Amino acid sequence: MDKKKFIDNSWDYKNDDTKLSNHGFHTYPAMMIPQVARRLIETYGQNATVLLDPFMGSGTTLLEAKLHDNFQIAYGVDINPLTRLISKVKTTPIDEQILRNETNNLINRCSEYKCDVLFKQKTVEKPKFHNIEYWFKPEAIIDLVIIKTSIDSIRVDNKKVEDDLKDFFRVAFSETVRRVSNTRNGEFKLYRMNESALKKYTPDTLGEFEKKVRFNVEQMALFNKEAKNCEIRILAEDSRFKTSTPSNSIDIIVTSPPYGDSRTTVAYGQFSRLSLEWLGFDSKTVREIDKISLGGIPTIDMSHKLDSPSLQNILNEIQSIDSKRAKDVLSFYIDFNQCVIEIDRVMKIGGFLCFVVGNRTVKGVKIPTDDIIVELFKAKNNYKHHKTIIRNIPSKRMPKKNSPTNVKGELKSTMNEEYVVILEKQ
Ligand SMILES: C[S@@+](CC[C@H](N)C(=O)[O-])C[C@H]1O[C@@H](n2cnc3c(N)ncnc32)[C@H](O)[C@@H]1O
Repeated sequence: MDKKKFIDNSWDYKNDDTKLSNHGFHTYPAMMIPQVARRLIETYGQNATVLLDPFMGSGTTLLEAKLHDNFQIAYGVDINPLTRLISKVKTTPIDEQILRNETNNLINRCSEYKCDVLFKQKTVEKPKFHNIEYWFKPEAIIDLVIIKTSIDSIRVDNKKVEDDLKDFFRVAFSETVRRVSNTRNGEFKLYRMNESALKKYTPDTLGEFEKKVRFNVEQMALFNKEAKNCEIRILAEDSRFKTSTPSNSIDIIVTSPPYGDSRTTVAYGQFSRLSLEWLGFDSKTVREIDKISLGGIPTIDMSHKLDSPSLQNILNEIQSIDSKRAKDVLSFYIDFNQCVIEIDRVMKIGGFLCFVVGNRTVKGVKIPTDDIIVELFKAKNNYKHHKTIIRNIPSKRMPKKNSPTNVKGELKSTMNEEYVVILEKQ
């Protein structure tokens, strides 16, 4: 093995609390462990003032930047509107007293509304999205409408505070939507429970919401005391194209890009669909997410200009087994390479890039994403590969098993470890 690549168990954080500060506000697939983001920031961002996460997800890196003294600006980019809501809320302090008062008011309003529905036959208007009855029990739909209407009716004098409060409660609402839906536990793809599980299922929607809100309020009260001045800039942009991040402005990147195309790895859009529809996003926007995700649209043929021998080797191997799957893999790296161009534009000379990636297996062929990233950056400009740390992923929420052969029922453990790639732009 390359001397720069080594296993280091001190990066596993097997027994650490990964929900500290505001990190536990909302589940998201393949979340980064806060301890990893923190250590990368502390090791490679000591003199950094500007940070970027071009695949921000639920904002783990941004929140860690907000907890550090030295940052002036932290940019986060993501194509998924749910990630932008979660990341904003996790990194935006809210006055504790106002938050506690509004929480009590909100919970009371929900209970009163529920009493009106039960005893005064007050009607609720269901949102109109495809298959709502398939994914939610009728009682859960009523309770979710009650919560959503109660959040929408929050009014305070200061518009910014009002928006921050509504967004704070929307995050707890979104997490409640996931918890009370008829989806199977622990799955990121949309699968419904089986009939017998569904019959016994009686979610306590208002109770779940209150529990989540109260947990988040306590965390926010602690975060308020720890948050530093770093300005968080969340961009609704696509890292494959020119973003509004200024050229040569970034001192450090700490990020975990997707592992592969959304059809055969994590479908972030599918994961977010029910929450986004409840939050009022139109179904077209929701469907688009997985298409514009890296590798979302397969290439027509195998021609490409990517300068990575490791990639070419595995493409040849996969193509000899299954040419369609080889195109899926290639399409992901063609898109990833566009992000390399954009990242190179914004990176300062002397800046560090920290990528946390998984090496998935397709048709029995292990794809060395860590090596491919190094080769793509080196082909683009003068990048030094410092090291690649291999860590175990004890609690990372991501599918550890998939069907790499695409044979039904044939599950292989694909990602029990991940690679932390450290590059420096010179
Ligand atoms: C592995 S997740 C990041 C998880 C994050 N580190 C966390 O802790 O939650 C990858 C993210 O990349 C986003 N993504 C995919 N394609 C993108 C693109 N073209 N531009 C920006 N973000 C993209 C996905 O929406 C997803 O949220």
